[in-house]
Amino acid sequence: MQKTLVLVKPDGVQRGLIGTVISRFENRGLRLAAAKFMWVSPELAANHYAVHQGKSFYDALIKFITSAPVMAMVWTGPDAITAVRQTIGKTKATEADPGTIRHDYALTTRYNICHASDSPENAEAEIALWFKPEELVEWKRASEDWIYE
Ligand code: CMP
Repeated sequence: MQKTLVLVKPDGVQRGLIGTVISRFENRGLRLAAAKFMWVSPELAANHYAVHQGKSFYDALIKFITSAPVMAMVWTGPDAITAVRQTIGKTKATEADPGTIRHDYALTTRYNICHASDSPENAEAEIALWFKPEELVEWKRASEDWIYE
């Protein structure tokens, strides 16, 4: 079982899409392990997006992610990192496949509704950055025996 970090970013929050995003992952069979509705400090934004420092879109990205609250979540399940990124779709919304969140709700690259970890190493680091260990909830969905083989 893998864990991955998902953010519903300020555009998704302001457009009332938190529930839609959560439904997509619930319907897929993934299990919510943690959730926190919060403002992002400039320090947390800089840490989270450190890999993009120096890129042309970095300053606008930091301004964007701190411009309204985000819904930070941890989702778990078999192959959760790949499954979540598949459900979200490609970073550039106009390249995302039909049926993905970014295709269905976004048009640009910056305002692309969600963030999700892209590797096991980054998932571990991002979860540790956004959540304390005691904020992760251990539980089992009753439906899992019929979804996880
Ligand atoms: P996310 O998955 O959160 O990871 C980095 C974010 O930077 C990305 O989603 C977009 O919001 C933003 N981003 C990535 N590439 C670009 C780009 N070329 N122009 C503007 N924003 C970008």
